[in-house]
Amino acid sequence: MYLGIDLGTSAVKTVLVDASQRVIASESRPLATASPQSGYSEQDPAQWIDATFATLDALKTTHPGALAAVEGIGLSGQMHGATLLDASLRPLRPCILWNDGRSAAECRMLEQRWPALRAITGNKAMPGFTAPKLLWIAAHEPEIFAATKLVLLPKAYLRLVLSGEAVEDVSDASGSLWLDAARRDWSDAALAATGLSRDHMPRLVEGCAPATTLRGELAQRWGMTRRPVIAGGAGDNPAGAVGIGAIRPGTAFVSLGTSGALLAPTDSIAANPDRVVHTFCHAVPGMWIQAGAILSAASCLAWAARLFGITEAELLSPLGSRPQAPSPVSFLPYLAGERTPHDDPFVRGMLDGLSHGTDRGTIVQAVLEGVAFALADCRDALADAGIAIAEADVIGGGSRSGFWLAVLANVLNVPIHRFAGGETGAAFGAARLGRLAVTGEAVAAVCTRPQRIETFEPDAGLTDAYAERLPAWRELYRPRH
Ligand code: XUL
Repeated sequence: MYLGIDLGTSAVKTVLVDASQRVIASESRPLATASPQSGYSEQDPAQWIDATFATLDALKTTHPGALAAVEGIGLSGQMHGATLLDASLRPLRPCILWNDGRSAAECRMLEQRWPALRAITGNKAMPGFTAPKLLWIAAHEPEIFAATKLVLLPKAYLRLVLSGEAVEDVSDASGSLWLDAARRDWSDAALAATGLSRDHMPRLVEGCAPATTLRGELAQRWGMTRRPVIAGGAGDNPAGAVGIGAIRPGTAFVSLGTSGALLAPTDSIAANPDRVVHTFCHAVPGMWIQAGAILSAASCLAWAARLFGITEAELLSPLGSRPQAPSPVSFLPYLAGERTPHDDPFVRGMLDGLSHGTDRGTIVQAVLEGVAFALADCRDALADAGIAIAEADVIGGGSRSGFWLAVLANVLNVPIHRFAGGETGAAFGAARLGRLAVTGEAVAAVCTRPQRIETFEPDAGLTDAYAERLPAWRELYRPRH
């Protein structure tokens, strides 16, 4: 039996997976995000621990026998967040998250201080990444910087609490800007550019390798008969890839979660930091992921639901199964700024083309289309790095809407495939990594492709109509910096 724990942004989700890779139980607990100023985004690490323990305590009640038999645990996590710990390994302040935009000036400073940054990390310095957050702390909270003994990404902090050891996997570490992406190791030059050294960093392992074991008292609390191995695990996007068996070139996929991404596994680095393509080590050895990442995807739909005071399902149901024509309204989904292709933490969203005739459905359709257009920007940035996408799978909460997937197929002009659902997602991928760490099986034998249940084909009339709209939609973007 294996456990996958995904420390997301809006929730912690834990799944129990059996030897035949069936999800036999899952529990989730919500997380709150604080925004003390516009563009800031923080979470208290104590929340992650409480939420994770609550999911496991619940599984102990509902599935005690299965939980007792757990041999391996995989962790997946929201990427990039800076959790700063003091000498007693206690958090010094709330974690600054992946969608926090405060460190734009520090990004420029970092690239000046260390001109090899793009070549070594494969990434552009952006406020979402971890290293510039540390420069911001050094400038604005110097006493906290001075007290910082260890810097951990969110799931490495969770692992520290679960095991007592500070260990990180290379996929998550590649979102820090401190990793040499080709060597899959910390870069001393990168760390020095932020006033840090390897002493401030956790030990590194591959995602499917054993990292440590669960503390004895926690194994006892959850009634486990042995102390399970904890695998390296992965950042949520690479973990999602493992969950759907996207472990070789030609298996691109779209993630429609709180954030969104178009991700392409590659067997060598195909970086394009100038167009804001992200370079991540994959959670399986010898592979990387090149990605276009957008900061707001399903969170745009959640925003619209809050605005109209109804549920997302109520927003979507009047739209039917597919669009008849593009919405006359255009939406820029930059509610938290944007990464690919703009790298602009200051830009904000926009609704354009409103009239007296604009109704709720027109706006909701525009919101879904705006996210799809942003993913078309990601597609073009990847194409510029030589990565052509002929079809894509889709994962994440947004994939529940067939209408949205029909829009996506037409905007990207490629077939979009949907899976059955339950057995996809970062938590399931994490459980697979937990299994690999215990069994040492061949990666390909475990990371199989789940059954696709539906394909959304582009439809000639609509793809032309969306292709015509895309340049005008792009024109709406005006940099604020
Ligand atoms: C990827 C990114 C997000 C977070 C949160 O670069 O910032 O996908 O991992 O899910």
